[in-house]
Amino acid sequence: MIRLAILAGDGIGPEIIAEALKVLDVLRGEGLQVSTEAAAVGGAAVDLHGDPLPDATLELCRRSDAILFGAIGGPQYDVLPREQRPERGLLRLRKALDLFANLRPARVFPQLAAASTLKPEVVAGLDILIMRELTGDIYFGEPRGIRIEANGERVGFNTMIYSESEIRRAAHAGFQAARRRHHRLCSVDKMNVLESTQLWRDVVTEVGREYPDVELSHMLVDNAAMQLVRNPRQFDVILTGNIFGDILSDEASMLTGSIGMLPSASLNATGQGMYEPIHGSAPDIAGRGIANPLAQILSLAMLFRHSLDRSDLAERIETAVEATLEAGCRTADIAQAGEKVISTTQMGDAVASALARGRT
Ligand code: IPM
Ligand code: MG
Repeated sequence: MIRLAILAGDGIGPEIIAEALKVLDVLRGEGLQVSTEAAAVGGAAVDLHGDPLPDATLELCRRSDAILFGAIGGPQYDVLPREQRPERGLLRLRKALDLFANLRPARVFPQLAAASTLKPEVVAGLDILIMRELTGDIYFGEPRGIRIEANGERVGFNTMIYSESEIRRAAHAGFQAARRRHHRLCSVDKMNVLESTQLWRDVVTEVGREYPDVELSHMLVDNAAMQLVRNPRQFDVILTGNIFGDILSDEASMLTGSIGMLPSASLNATGQGMYEPIHGSAPDIAGRGIANPLAQILSLAMLFRHSLDRSDLAERIETAVEATLEAGCRTADIAQAGEKVISTTQMGDAVASALARGRT
């Protein structure tokens, strides 16, 4: 029996998780043995237990084969002490499970090439993978804080830091991902200014000698941000650290038409993983039934591929999403002028029935 932890979280999280569970139910109906158990995380957990990552939630995650995660956060929590904010719950969870390898594919579905703000000829056929290191860098570096100087002025500070072993394991994950794709890896850093990323470049270069079949290149992050909108198809796998990966993956998402389309997998060394859309909780549209559930549904597909070794089911889900887009189903974020817009639940229903029809 496969055990999944379901962490819906805040904002649109519960709405889109419900649609992914519909898709899972189709597979269960075909006999797949999966048990699911839900737990509170983020602001929802703060409301219930005063903690964005309650012990019971972490325990459930530890004993699960994989975690399907919605989204966390909301403006009402931004006034809380930092430790109690929803984002801390997510970061603690990533750290506690050592989910260092964050795979963020950005793929343009042919049906959506015109939905991007970039010209279709720039993005058509785009298929890149960002491999973001997820448990180090300035996100977790110490010291950090806001202090008051003797003269009364406040100073905010963080520490950008990477150890050789952290870079090494992220690099291996990147090269291995490139091996499963088109054998090209572009490592992104800011070595012209930042020592921590000089070490990044040095270690990635060393690791690269173990992968002679993968073509390694290096790019500075400012140039990478520019190249992503100039000619995004030059990339196969982009390997980068935590903060640069956060920023570049949001940028890459818009190449695909909508941030509502991008799934992600966060893996540790044992293959256990957490699967979440790269978008946030979108409090501005929560509760209105208009969110796009496809990033969440595609995250479920990644879960089957990476944690359960069921690429067959991952492909079926992805094919069902494509068939749904082909049939003209569009939530508001991916609709072009004049196209009919459907709701979150209608999109989930459409994918679930395409999946049921697609059984071979
Ligand atoms: C992401 C998000 C998170 C991050 C936030 C919610 C803490 O932006 O997963 O990209 O910065 O990692
Ligand atoms: Mg982000």
